[in-house]
Amino acid sequence: MAKESLTITDNRTGKLYEIPINYGTIHSTDLRQIKVHDDDFGMMTYDPAFMNTASCKSTITFIDGDKGILRYRGYPIEQLAEHSTYLEVAYLLLNGELPNGTQLAVWEKDITAHTFIHENVKKLMEGFRYDAHPMGMFISTVAALSTFYPEANKIFDAPTRQKQILRLLGKVPTIAAFSYRHIKGMPYVYPNDNLSFIENFLTMMYSIGSPNFKPEPVFERALNILFILHADHEQNCSTSAMRNIGSSQVDPYSAIAGAAAALYGPLHGGANEAVIRMLDHIDDIKKVPEFIAKVKNGEGRLMGFGHRVYKNYDPRAKVIKKLAYDVFEVTGKNPKLEIALELERIALEDDYFVKRKLYPNVDFYSGLIYQAMNFPMEFFPVLFAIPRTAGWISHWQELLMDPDQKIARPRQIYLGKEARDYVPISKRK
Ligand code: SDX
Repeated sequence: MAKESLTITDNRTGKLYEIPINYGTIHSTDLRQIKVHDDDFGMMTYDPAFMNTASCKSTITFIDGDKGILRYRGYPIEQLAEHSTYLEVAYLLLNGELPNGTQLAVWEKDITAHTFIHENVKKLMEGFRYDAHPMGMFISTVAALSTFYPEANKIFDAPTRQKQILRLLGKVPTIAAFSYRHIKGMPYVYPNDNLSFIENFLTMMYSIGSPNFKPEPVFERALNILFILHADHEQNCSTSAMRNIGSSQVDPYSAIAGAAAALYGPLHGGANEAVIRMLDHIDDIKKVPEFIAKVKNGEGRLMGFGHRVYKNYDPRAKVIKKLAYDVFEVTGKNPKLEIALELERIALEDDYFVKRKLYPNVDFYSGLIYQAMNFPMEFFPVLFAIPRTAGWISHWQELLMDPDQKIARPRQIYLGKEARDYVPISKRK
């Protein structure tokens, strides 16, 4: 029977080491025994950007990048997108099982009860410039929530922790909608407890004075599906940031603000905004070949393409691409769709992209839908942050319960100066 271990020979000393293998990995601290001299620190691994490092064990989300598989707690994303709702998926991510009827009703009621934000939080938001980026407003305002709920740092007290989770899920759509109204110079629309989660969000975003505002049902369904697709994605950059910050045992509001800051980057959650700017820049389907040539020449990237894990079509992009046509039925086709389809057609045939396994990811088509639904481009990363809040807090909670985890503190390879004495300024060149 093959042994679940590695035998390592250190050619510097001729010594042999037996390193156990668990879950297809080796525990990197097992390498510390590999030394030349007894007082050596011992062997480390070097893994910038964590290309090949598992930072945790998790039971929340499973991705198979080669097969294009994504499952939340074992349920395929395609089935959840078709049959579930965002709040039901948030419950699943946090609790591990789909809720029964009573559990879902209580869950929805509890979150609805936390959609209001303190009037002083609203006043704080009014201090932003008229043209502040809504993602900057989102990050700062979520961080400020930690000053309104100081008890949130009792992170190991389950009822207190659960209350912050309900507050976060309930308040992030309100903060998002208020940031939109702020940049539009429009009065804020308060949450309405009689509306469903998505209906309430769209009403806070778009109702103008009329008490009978009713969001377009196709938009409501589309946003539910988009929120489900964006809810979690295992150890992506922002979720890793959430775990890293959470490992210091700070309150969840401060940790979420840090995670949202990571998501804001154009290589991560800012990509859907970058896709639309790229399509605007191309502007004409006839210019696609010229743009592709520039990308292949290393002049910029095909935004919305490529993924650290998916080396096949992102399963979420498939669902979103189909959903786009449902939305365009109502809104009329986004003229940029043709350019996007031509970019995809060429990229899926062109060896440069095929060799690098660059396929459309979740961000490639989502921006087209958001734009068709009248969301401004700078609001797109906020539409990513709202649902990903469920994923961030699920991983945060899992981290707190994990006996393997402690404060994150990686090591480094030091290549700086050796010890040297201070030089008085009079003696410096
Ligand atoms: C999200 O991690 C997650 O799960 C993220 C996410 C989630 O749900 O949380 O899925 C959400 O962030 C989706 C990704 C959105 N970002 C973009 O669409 C931006 C464009 N894509 C990339 O910049 C890139 O593909 C990344 C950042 C997504 C992944 O980058 P990697 O894995 O670090 O790959 P790399 O930068 O090392 O690139 C490998 C090669 C390079 O070429 P060579 O140096 O080998 O010649 O592929 C090239 C890159 O130049 N490449 C691209 C490209 N992406 C990679 N070339 C052109 N266009 C691209 N989009």
